[in-house]
Amino acid sequence: MSQDVSPLETARLSYAPRVPPLLADGAGHVAFREGPATGAAGHADEIRARFPRTYGRGILELGPGVAEGRGPVHVGVALCGGQAPGGHNVIAGLHDGLLAARPGSRLTGFLGGPRGILSGRYRELTAQDLAPYRNTGGFDLIGSGRHKIETASDFAACRGSCERLGLNGLVIVGGDDSNTNAALLAEFFVSQGVGVTVVGVPKTIDGDIKGRGIEVSFGFDTATKIYSELVGNVCRDAKSAAKYWHFIKLMGRSASHVTLECALATQVNVALIGEEVRERGLTLDQVVGQVADVVRRRAAAGKSYGVCLVPEGLVEFIPELGRLIDALNRVLAEHASDPSVLSGAAERGSFVGGKLAAGDRRVFAALPGGIRSQLLEDRDAHGNVQVSRIDTEQLLILKVAEQIEGWRQAGEFRGTFSAQGHFFGYEGRSAPPSNFDADYSYSLGRLAAILVASSKTGYLCAVGNLARPARFWTAAGIPLTSLMHMETRKGLSAPVIAKALVRLDGAPFRAFAERRDDWAIGDRYRYPGPIQYCGPSTVSRGVNETLRLEREKI
Ligand code: FBP
Repeated sequence: MSQDVSPLETARLSYAPRVPPLLADGAGHVAFREGPATGAAGHADEIRARFPRTYGRGILELGPGVAEGRGPVHVGVALCGGQAPGGHNVIAGLHDGLLAARPGSRLTGFLGGPRGILSGRYRELTAQDLAPYRNTGGFDLIGSGRHKIETASDFAACRGSCERLGLNGLVIVGGDDSNTNAALLAEFFVSQGVGVTVVGVPKTIDGDIKGRGIEVSFGFDTATKIYSELVGNVCRDAKSAAKYWHFIKLMGRSASHVTLECALATQVNVALIGEEVRERGLTLDQVVGQVADVVRRRAAAGKSYGVCLVPEGLVEFIPELGRLIDALNRVLAEHASDPSVLSGAAERGSFVGGKLAAGDRRVFAALPGGIRSQLLEDRDAHGNVQVSRIDTEQLLILKVAEQIEGWRQAGEFRGTFSAQGHFFGYEGRSAPPSNFDADYSYSLGRLAAILVASSKTGYLCAVGNLARPARFWTAAGIPLTSLMHMETRKGLSAPVIAKALVRLDGAPFRAFAERRDDWAIGDRYRYPGPIQYCGPSTVSRGVNETLRLEREKI
């Protein structure tokens, strides 16, 4: 064994992912059956107008039959956006699926995400290249990126790269923004008569591509298991030392699925769910008041410790801060080339602050200077605020401490409040995939191979029935346009895949809401421990709480 490879990694290289029989079939005994016409997630007329050639098709269910087409194909693949455990297995599944369905096929990986497609940077991916990457975390085999494909010259460049390579298909592995790229490219290629089939694969640890046939994105299971392990450890430390409150920010830039899942898995004292904060229209002070109230009640019970989970996207969910961020986006987009905007944080802050309406200016001014600067940092290529760079946990610690100090001076608080801040995000994104994610992402790759080989363009891979063992999983292609609606991006209305937020009427949130009062004061912590690859199936093959609760009701 090489000294450079850990024993676990070595063992995982030989793990054979479990796949449902339909996807394991390499002999072409499968075919798609098209369901009724689909619409869009919202703004159907606009989406139909923007995607006249790919809009409205039915969901493609995979079943026994005779496969379409024959002969080898050449397919390109790009990994896009943030890393998610299982990316390498998608590529492995795609590779193996192509060779099984169409012997002699070739797979090419674009380097650095969408930018690799634009610039034509790629590498050939053979069985030998893939061998050291099977069941590993990370995207380092071909890298990733967040580049947006938006201008006419971008589309022409993608066409050029695919044609130069003689590709028949292109698989985009990504989240909502990257699959929006996939939908746009599919439409463009059809409109230009370019014979490149574009297929998307749902990836993101945030878990916010779901619904309409997609049960969960790959990577969510592993990342939340890693965070839950860490949160559980922090809970035990908090209870042991009995002297700190821990405020833990968790990744999930636009939805609170990760925080909700970790709360269910560990039963922390407080978990803020952004979607609920928005629904109830809470101000920052009200959110702080709720957390401080639990701190005070626990202190009265002799517990000067606790754990509070904070979704990284919280700031965008607090309506007054969400409005402020929209206003900042507008000002920054309108004055993008102004020297004051391009200058240092202080000048940028006072310039932008001066352009805000009175209400937004008041909210902006009330924030600590560090948070103000972070809100003004560069947006990503899709116009999103980079919430992973905003110290929301520190903002809450500061504000809760202020509130408690006020209570102390008024004689309403006895005890201590000493807080530690944490951010768990990058720790989980490139972890070796859990058995679930290893099987699921490999199956998604196998399905992508069948869709591409069948020339089904503009579809997102959907493997379903995931709470059951892999042999019962189903497979389908979901029209990308059916997941889209219109949103304001960089000040303009644009078609994008709609993010799936936490549903307050959904089983996971309801399970949390029923029990959180008990968790707040009683110490009901659960300690999930590290991901297991062997041993009893309840630990090595258990699905996450979110998926379990969502599927239980069916
Ligand atoms: P994707 O939506 O691309 O999967 O990325 C998710 C995410 O991990 C978020 O949770 C986080 O806010 C963001 O990526 C961080 O991005 P970056 O890697 O650019 O810092």
